[in-house]
Amino acid sequence: MNTSRILLIIGGGIAAYKSIELVRLLRKSGYVVRCVLTRAGEQFVTPLTLAALSENKVYTNLFDLKDEVEMGHIQLSREADLVVVAPATADLLAKMAAGIADDLATTLLLATDKPVLAAPAMNVRMWLHPATQRNVVTLRGDGVTVLDPDEGEMACGEFGPGRLPEPTAIFAAIEAALSSPLPLAGGVGGGPVAPSVLPLDDSGPSDMPSPSPSRKREGDLRGQPDFAPENHRPLYGRRILITAGPTHEPIDPVRYIANRSSGKQGFAIAAAAAEAGAEVLLIAGPVPLPTPPGVIRVDVETAVEMAEEVLQGLPVDAAIMVAAVADWRAADTSAQKIKKDGSGAVPPLALAENPDILAGIARSPDRPPLLIGFAAETNDVIAHAGAKLAKKGCDWIVANDVAADPMGGESNRVHIVSKNGIDSWDRLPKAAVARKLMEKIADELDARSPRQPD
Ligand SMILES: Cc1cc2nc3c(=O)[nH]c(=O)nc-3n(C[C@H](O)[C@H](O)[C@H](O)COP(=O)(O)O)c2cc1C
Repeated sequence: MNTSRILLIIGGGIAAYKSIELVRLLRKSGYVVRCVLTRAGEQFVTPLTLAALSENKVYTNLFDLKDEVEMGHIQLSREADLVVVAPATADLLAKMAAGIADDLATTLLLATDKPVLAAPAMNVRMWLHPATQRNVVTLRGDGVTVLDPDEGEMACGEFGPGRLPEPTAIFAAIEAALSSPLPLAGGVGGGPVAPSVLPLDDSGPSDMPSPSPSRKREGDLRGQPDFAPENHRPLYGRRILITAGPTHEPIDPVRYIANRSSGKQGFAIAAAAAEAGAEVLLIAGPVPLPTPPGVIRVDVETAVEMAEEVLQGLPVDAAIMVAAVADWRAADTSAQKIKKDGSGAVPPLALAENPDILAGIARSPDRPPLLIGFAAETNDVIAHAGAKLAKKGCDWIVANDVAADPMGGESNRVHIVSKNGIDSWDRLPKAAVARKLMEKIADELDARSPRQPD
């Protein structure tokens, strides 16, 4: 029997009914549960149902004199062992990230000194909206554990990520959180590590653009000791930079040159690196993928922007360049949409070569000790990868054959080409490729410079 105390905050989402099952599971296992319902939450479940199941008073109002006398709101926020928000609506996540305290639930969340676990649930577009993704990054940076929503058909008929994880999965996350204490929200446990971004050397490679000091970054790199599983984090203490996705090279305000990269392999690698305990900086081209837990993400659009952000992200222990960067961009970008003039004449499209990001880093004074490029090939995969290895000056090329299974699939068959030979792996799901690659990288980094024990 577990007698830990859970403060369960229920937001105003259609999935609020699942919180009832969560309360039942918690009570069955002996947890003491106190529920707080937001005003919107009350539209979906009643305080009476929650009171009956939790066998405890349900709180809804910040300015309730009787409640305040019985148990002040600060005490309510502190007496739990874990604060759980389920469903965490887009609105609640936004308020939590901004530190807004305009009702009982958000005031408790700001006043608590206990770990906070949030289980988001919302429409897929709301979840993928940059504002929500930004808020999730902020909250994770603040030490809040934000579960990934499930993917599937939604109550609104759309399909994608945004469903509340099943009550049994939230229950398991609660048990895990209580058995390995989470960082305290507000960064009390495990404060930020200052990003060690070196000033750039003006004498750097000529085909690399200088960084724009004004580009917005989504957060600071942080250590991952509390995020990664304690028993296996072979990349703890390492900094890893990953690029992912395609780049979009504008022709005019509505058209661009692109490629079919989905970003899935790069995002899987970022997720696996964070799970292995690394500090991960993910520089992502335009893809609608959620940011993996524990990863700092910078979104870019063009190859030039990606090159700038990569340089700003150095130094790191390893850089894994998975992005399918466009080789060319439009030499001139039209400020207005290019129109057909009816004459049948086709507008000229002159191209300019984009910076070679991989070769540029290889020549940089901050060249990472381990520099890995990806090569998507449709023929003579290994021969092309060997040639690319020599030409780019990197340590490994991860070659994948995209002839049989074009970009965007769920699995990959890769060959790791290095000066020591070729390591060919069976076709594996992209997440498995990512995890296997992290083990290989960890071994390589440890062989070159053993880590300090964590
Ligand atoms: C029928 C209905 C279902 C809703 N479902 C969700 C949802 O699943 N997730 C969400 O973020 N917002 C949802 N909303 C919108 C929220 O109720 C609204 O943003 C509200 O302000 C959230 O309040 P809260 O901060 O107390 O959770 C829904 C609204 C309606 C009318």
